[in-house]
Amino acid sequence: MQARRRIGSGLMSLLFLVLGLALGSNGFAASPRINYLLYCSGCHLPGGQGNAPNVPTLHDELGLMMTVPAMRGYLARVPGSAQAPIDDVDLTAVLNWLLTEFNSETLPEDFKPLSVDEVSAARARLLADPNGYRETHWKPYDFQTPLTEHQ
Ligand code: HEC
Repeated sequence: MQARRRIGSGLMSLLFLVLGLALGSNGFAASPRINYLLYCSGCHLPGGQGNAPNVPTLHDELGLMMTVPAMRGYLARVPGSAQAPIDDVDLTAVLNWLLTEFNSETLPEDFKPLSVDEVSAARARLLADPNGYRETHWKPYDFQTPLTEHQ
């Protein structure tokens, strides 16, 4: 039963991917979830959990970062975002989607979604050293400690 369910969910992901490609080639905007699956999940995994110690999780900490102005644009300036083959409108939607989908518990109450102007200005300033920027304006990655112990 379990194996069958696993196969079923694999087929569903494949279906979403095919659907996303079909919609993309017809010029219709794909949903943020589909764009995430197409352009981000290869590294960050479909559930956004990342792949320690090389690829960071997209859960929880990004919400906390939104309290620091210098970190709003950071989300669009990391190479995986800035260089994704989607336009500014779609990238903005993906970033706001992952903030509300994976970070709802840690987003500040007065969080204002990223605007397309903000994302387009930020992504033009690609970070050559994303880890250095993160360390200066936020904190280094910690792949060891569960997030609750950071607070
Ligand atoms: C080729 C692998 C790869 C892809 C594809 C990718 N990323 Fe990443 N991402 C990384 C790595 C590695 C890092 C760590 C910083 C660095 O070295 O770029 C990162 C860092 C990030 C961060 C910062 C996380 C933090 O805690 O500091 C965000 C946000 C992010 N990626 C979003 C995205 C989004 C959105 C997409 C899709 C549009 C995407 N990434 C696609 C590999 C990838």
